[in-house]
Amino acid sequence: MFPNKVLFITGTNTEVGKTVVSYLLAKFLKKQGIKVGYWKPVETGVEKYPADGKLLSSLLGQPLEETVTYTYKLPLAPYVAAQYEGKEIDLTLLREKFNEHLNKYEFLIIEGAGGLAVPILRNYTYGNLAKEWNLPTLIVGRARLGTINDCFLTAYYGKSLGINLVGFVLNGFTGKDLSEKDNPRVVEDMTQLPVLVKIPQSSQPLDLEVDFSPLLGKV
Ligand SMILES: Nc1ncnc2c1ncn2[C@@H]1O[C@H](COP(=O)(O)OP(=O)(O)O)[C@@H](O)[C@H]1O
Ligand SMILES: [Mg+2]
Repeated sequence: MFPNKVLFITGTNTEVGKTVVSYLLAKFLKKQGIKVGYWKPVETGVEKYPADGKLLSSLLGQPLEETVTYTYKLPLAPYVAAQYEGKEIDLTLLREKFNEHLNKYEFLIIEGAGGLAVPILRNYTYGNLAKEWNLPTLIVGRARLGTINDCFLTAYYGKSLGINLVGFVLNGFTGKDLSEKDNPRVVEDMTQLPVLVKIPQSSQPLDLEVDFSPLLGKV
């Protein structure tokens, strides 16, 4: 048996940097010789190939079809895309895939879609999934103004569900936004969760080398 670990990466919204954080974390773990797997249960807005899955599969050498289970063309929340496209998400299938990946990789990174309250089914969100599967959950938020509210609400919802929230990664520090200096401290104070990693804004974010060691003791 592998001493396998799992981390669910959610965000305060879509486009906040979940995939970039997944990529940088996978790169960090891979460098340490850890067998990393990436899995996105549902990806929407898929043209030809799932974009997030493709990025991670090329980094990790994982088969593309293994990185994403459900794909939908429309760029909508999974439940809504599934309604339009007539292909309902089967939680039993997702659970099977989860178990397969967990047995195969030493460290499995699971990326959500959008934020924690995004529905997978009617009345079933990523937060419900994280609770049911007992997933240690990392919240990616923006560095800039607005993040206090976003982070607080995500943590509040996660706590209300009883999820194991490990903390935050704040992404996109520019050094120019006045709020950036105080956001980490205020987010920590209001949520009583740590800001584990801060990531700068970069023209080549995937080339960044980020130290994720503060996260490792939490998973
Ligand atoms: N630190 C960063 N610096 C610059 N661009 C970033 C950074 N993090 C994310 N981005 C860009 O922002 C967009 C959204 O990031 P992504 O990781 O895809 O978000 P999500 O997975 O949460 O939807 C992408 O174009 C990505 O390259
Ligand atoms: Mg993504």
